[in-house]
Amino acid sequence: MADRWTPQSWQAYPAQQQPDWPDTAALDVVLKKVSEQPSLVFAGESRALQSALGHVAEGRAFLLQAGDCAESFDEFSAVNIREKLRVILQMAVVLTYSMGVPVVKVGRMAGQFAKPRSSGTEKIGDVELPSFRGHIVNDPAFTADARVPNPDRLMQAYEQSASTLNLLRAFTKGGFADLNRVSAWTQEYAKSSPEGQRYVALSNEIERALAFMSACGVDTENYSALHEVDVYTSHEALILGYEEALTRLDSLTGQWYDASAHMLWIGERTRQLDGAHIEFLRGVANPVGCKVGATTSPEWVVELCEKMNPSRIPGRLTLISRMGADKIEDGLRPLLRAVKQAGHPVVWACDPMHGNTITAPNGRKTRQFEDIVGEIAGFVRAHKAEGTWPGGIHVELTGDNVTECTGGTDDLTNDDLDYRYQTVCDPRLNGRQGVDLAFRVAELIRNHG
Ligand code: PEP
Ligand code: CO
Repeated sequence: MADRWTPQSWQAYPAQQQPDWPDTAALDVVLKKVSEQPSLVFAGESRALQSALGHVAEGRAFLLQAGDCAESFDEFSAVNIREKLRVILQMAVVLTYSMGVPVVKVGRMAGQFAKPRSSGTEKIGDVELPSFRGHIVNDPAFTADARVPNPDRLMQAYEQSASTLNLLRAFTKGGFADLNRVSAWTQEYAKSSPEGQRYVALSNEIERALAFMSACGVDTENYSALHEVDVYTSHEALILGYEEALTRLDSLTGQWYDASAHMLWIGERTRQLDGAHIEFLRGVANPVGCKVGATTSPEWVVELCEKMNPSRIPGRLTLISRMGADKIEDGLRPLLRAVKQAGHPVVWACDPMHGNTITAPNGRKTRQFEDIVGEIAGFVRAHKAEGTWPGGIHVELTGDNVTECTGGTDDLTNDDLDYRYQTVCDPRLNGRQGVDLAFRVAELIRNHG
């Protein structure tokens, strides 16, 4: 790989999973327009995230990366964003309080639109059409027209990302995220469940702790960390033309930043060492992630670390394992050992979703809550055995009361899946299952010792 990197240098490398845009002139017009738009995030914010992730790499903090599998143009609303944020904040409070370490919060939000597919086409009966690749590319309806990649969608994705970020900034800095409101985040539905009651008990303890602090004379009113939170954004950097159009030179440091999100990651299907996605992300200064599936070798992981983080900056690289509950412990251990031996300061995060997708008898794609917990348990055991820090989790969830994953507090069954199955792509945890998972994860990490 040539050393010289530019925002365009990826174009000389093979790029997997790119849409087959029918009209490249129209695509170029839209990309030019995107490149003229203001940055969605600022380089300084990405640097702050990288520094927070540096603490995770050193075992002093925990990463919670969570949000939609695929954001939707159709289900875009303030309520939807608020509810997703609420679950992330609730999970973070549970993890922080139970584990006693800061939780770095990163949403799969404000840009998580593009989807890699295992097959380029989808066949129903005798009809074969291009696959749905996320709302940034085409529409999921099974008609030839709907599936044509439409570059105008790139602009719509940019605009929806901007509005989502605007609301996220308002919610996280404008009072909604105030720690005094931890109990207000609990909706009626959560109070009625065992996990909901556990959450209420925890929020009561936090309220007492805050009252104690102010009774001792601590100025809690003016201490901003109690009233505001940092929630960063991230998505899979899949459509490289779009990412390139939002890549800007930071005048302060002279480095290039992909200003479409604070953190970008490379998916399981696009992580070829000599491919365009790795070429693109190696040159931007944002913190970056890479999925690590069951087929990866220790040599591959070390080479990836060398390529993505030659200066060995803690927090620059997050490795997100996704192997499946039954493979993780044995599959991960040699990788942990190799990266440790090579002296690379990575964040290890566990994606317990993508290796545990199954098809229910009614044809719905689903995931079982106990498999999700099981993969995290195996992840924690592997770290314990290798003396490394199980740095975080990467999950797909929504604040809505969907029925897409089975099990959890409400013990959802395969029969419940038809009830509220709303995802545009993979099955997500609902709000209750998210909080439930946070309690289970906190217990697993606490026992990590
Ligand atoms: C995803 O995170 O939605 C995804 C497609 O994951 P992976 O690349 O690990 O399959
Ligand atoms: Co997914």
